Amino acid sequence: MRWWQHRGVWMIMTITTISFVQAEDPKRFFDWRVTYGKISPLGHSQRVILINGQFPGPEIHSVTNDNLIINVHNDLDEPFLLSWKNSYQDGVYGTTCPIPPGRNYTYALHVKNQIGSFFYFPSLAVQKAAGGFGALRIFSRPHIPVPFPQPAGDFTFLIGDWYSQDDHKTLKALLDRGRKIPLPDVVLLNGHGLTFSTSFTVHKGKTYRFRISNVGLQHSLNFEILGHMLKLVEVEGTHTVQSMYTSIDIHVGQSYSVLVTMDQPPQNYSIVISTRFTETQYNVGSTLHYSNSKGSTFVPSRQPSDELDFSIKQARSIKTNLTASGPRPNPQGSYHYSRIKISRTLILESSADFVNKKQRYAINGISFVPADTPLKLADYFKIKGVFNVGSIPDMPSRGGMRLDTAVMGAHHKAFLEVVFQNPENTVQSYHLDGYNFWVVGMDKGTWSQASRRAYNLRDAISRSTTQVYPKTWTAVYVALDNVGMWNLRSEVWTRRYLGQQFYLRVYSPVKSQRDEYPIPKNALLCGRASNRQEIYITH
Ligand SMILES: *[C@@H]1O[C@H](CO)[C@@H](O)[C@H](O)[C@H]1NC(C)=O
Ligand SMILES: *[C@@H]1O[C@H](CO)[C@@H](O)[C@H](O)[C@H]1NC(C)=O
Ligand SMILES: *[C@@H]1O[C@H](CO)[C@@H](O)[C@H](O)[C@H]1NC(C)=O
Repeated sequence: MRWWQHRGVWMIMTITTISFVQAEDPKRFFDWRVTYGKISPLGHSQRVILINGQFPGPEIHSVTNDNLIINVHNDLDEPFLLSWKNSYQDGVYGTTCPIPPGRNYTYALHVKNQIGSFFYFPSLAVQKAAGGFGALRIFSRPHIPVPFPQPAGDFTFLIGDWYSQDDHKTLKALLDRGRKIPLPDVVLLNGHGLTFSTSFTVHKGKTYRFRISNVGLQHSLNFEILGHMLKLVEVEGTHTVQSMYTSIDIHVGQSYSVLVTMDQPPQNYSIVISTRFTETQYNVGSTLHYSNSKGSTFVPSRQPSDELDFSIKQARSIKTNLTASGPRPNPQGSYHYSRIKISRTLILESSADFVNKKQRYAINGISFVPADTPLKLADYFKIKGVFNVGSIPDMPSRGGMRLDTAVMGAHHKAFLEVVFQNPENTVQSYHLDGYNFWVVGMDKGTWSQASRRAYNLRDAISRSTTQVYPKTWTAVYVALDNVGMWNLRSEVWTRRYLGQQFYLRVYSPVKSQRDEYPIPKNALLCGRASNRQEIYITH
């Protein structure tokens, strides 16, 4: 839960329960140096953010309940803050102070009760456009059954739209001037933008796991291996019903794992990653290379004629395997979300508008502006005037857009129904830090109470990031069992930067370490919390 860990850190690591290091669980140590560097994903050199000289950053392999001790040295000329994009730990500016330039900070993260494929990324401004991201795998403990045989190999695909002409500071300056950023130049795969500059060698007859995350800024991507079927097995830490797909749509911020059996004649096949829902399609290709292959085979792509219908149908078919175990031996379906009474319904509607002649985005009419102090620290030190609880309504408001440091209050243990309503023409992707939610429904048009009749109250997928298609709605259920100040945001990063986000303050009057870890002793302090010393006084 536990934003506190991060607080001190300028990185954001979102992991379930990263709290104190638990003495009984194994520790893994990492020493990371964050620098600028040059790479040439398209043939010409450009400036990016490297971690230990790597782009993407180092891949973390861990096991459920490990303690990750990560000493991050910020050698940039700007503050740096990483978010561990998987669950209960946060590294966003609303909770955590960034690591100042020239300083280092050690995160201690406990990946408690987690499994699956995730990624970390820099959360400040649009630093993400320059890299600084990397993959995070959390394997099951040895005695916990995984619902498929051990694959012969395990490949990571970090994919995303890429803006090669401009570094992140130029993009930020454009957004700050109220302008839009240009169209992407290419799609990057593990730092490569030239088609067939990467290849993955496999053996005929064997099955491999592909972990795919969309680490890009704005665009939905489709993943296809020509001639091969994808068997979906995991989505953001949940084992799924194992259905077969010809290709999979992955929206910004999302992660999927598929198994692919090499059941075709031994040749070279194309792996194609292409943008979805764009007028111009951008793509990157890679080679699936069968060892001993004699040549290349041309296999046609099976792209659908109607992107939207294909994508909605696919999204609805993604379900939790109720009998599979997750991080613990008990079945994932042992918690019956449909039997819990909804205590509150939120309808969250996105909008785009100009405020003071600058492009802004909002949720329920409120366009978020950051405060001078992380909200969680202001809460902890009782610093007045940083934010007001209740500064964003539960329902869409009619009337214009306004700027505010939007914070919504909620009771610990409340059970929310959240409807994301998208009246716009673009695909949205929403993420809630600190939680997984059940995606119970999505459909075209405007949500109404009657829409509930079509909810999946049995085996909805539990995940942390959901898409909302143009002119549609998506409904999720979320059990607020994690005290903290949690960022609910658009994963379309330019929209988030320009206001499409708020913080959900999950509050309990009873202070208990079971509900929230205390602030770490080495927490970094900033803004109006800079001079506070009370950090050692914990409950
Ligand atoms: C900074 O790094 C040094 C060693 O590289 C380490 O001893 C020190 O504890 C780190 N400081 C913080 C605040 O993590
Ligand atoms: C669900 O998981 C169980 C237990 O591991 C497995 O036997 C079963 O094949 C899975 N079912 C589907 C439809 O994926
Ligand atoms: C097949 O792919 C491998 C790996 O990229 C490459 O070295 C080889 O030249 C390819 N063969 C053909 C016939 O394209």
